[in-house]
Amino acid sequence: MELNRRTVIAGAAAAGVAATTLGGTAHATGGRKPVKTLFGKLADGTKIYSWSLENGGTRLKVLSYGGIVQSLEIPDRRGRYANVSAGFATIDDYVAKSPYFGALIGRYGNRIGKGKFTLDGKNYQLSVNDGEQSLHGGAKGFDKRVWDIEPFVKGSDVGLHLYYTSVDGEMGYPGTLKTKVTYTLTRHGDWRVDYEATTDKATVVNLTSHVYFNLAGEGSGTIEDHELQIAASRYTPTDAGLIPTGELAKVAGTPFDFRKAKPIGRDIRVSHPQLVTAKGFDHNWVLDKGITARPEHVATLRDPASGRTMKIATNEPGLQFYSGNFLDGTLTGPSGRTYRQGDALCLETQHFPDSPNKPKFPSTVLRPGQTYRTTTIHTFGC
Ligand code: GLA
Repeated sequence: MELNRRTVIAGAAAAGVAATTLGGTAHATGGRKPVKTLFGKLADGTKIYSWSLENGGTRLKVLSYGGIVQSLEIPDRRGRYANVSAGFATIDDYVAKSPYFGALIGRYGNRIGKGKFTLDGKNYQLSVNDGEQSLHGGAKGFDKRVWDIEPFVKGSDVGLHLYYTSVDGEMGYPGTLKTKVTYTLTRHGDWRVDYEATTDKATVVNLTSHVYFNLAGEGSGTIEDHELQIAASRYTPTDAGLIPTGELAKVAGTPFDFRKAKPIGRDIRVSHPQLVTAKGFDHNWVLDKGITARPEHVATLRDPASGRTMKIATNEPGLQFYSGNFLDGTLTGPSGRTYRQGDALCLETQHFPDSPNKPKFPSTVLRPGQTYRTTTIHTFGC
């Protein structure tokens, strides 16, 4: 979190401002152990827990189903909290109809064309669940799995380790993939996500998080007034099935140019063939910094009305910006309000979609003996 936010929180607490949905006041310091409560049960009786974390003025609720961020609360410039992530109030809704709200995505974030790829001369057929394509790991991806959760308090950080082992052949992917994701809230209120995975056979992997953000608060309407900046001079145009063509196209002179912050709604209705195909923005930006050893700043999202901002840093080479194009008013969030097209957006740090079939894209292959490691940090301010 940035300095000005800390000052605001301290100021709000001093003034007794505590307009929160959790009923507490804003805390500028934390370090308290995450709290576990029963959220609901799956049809087979499996208990699903909700873990509540709070640190540095940020509050997070995480489900053992899908590692889902069910709620992410941050203050605005007057210290008023809002849940800035779209989701549901019940486990039944998550199981029945979630478009990946808040979930961990694996084994492969975004699409693999026709669900096919060849690795070391072997052909693999994945679960196909999006027309002809395999999307977000197939019909039962990591978003629909029950994760083992271990809470921790380490120095001034609080967090959760989430574990899931995907068996050899699951959804068509080779190798037993042992996955560990760590959600950390730092004393500055940053939300950090560390992904780790190992395999016992050569495979492909591309993990990400599918939180739908609306910095004005979920259920508050469109994100078209949010300003977005993405440090990318190129993006990967797609075909009609939203599979990259392989081209790295320049953003200059197109609606895809977010190098300087601009309102998302400014160009979203430009009749550009790529916007028409995707019904808005649903593309992978090729981050100028490339793959980096450490997370580097790649995007800033800002809601001018509330003053809330979110900065994203990652060591990944790509960022999928999805403008909530498929939300159609049929899903109701915890606020009791429906989500219409563009009422929330996703910023998914990743390797590029369909990399297993695009030899020129950075490789997503993981081999036995290697450890997959990526990190994404969300810094909130106001
Ligand atoms: C990703 C994809 C979108 C869509 C959403 C979920 O962001 O790129 O095309 O599938 O997930 O609805």
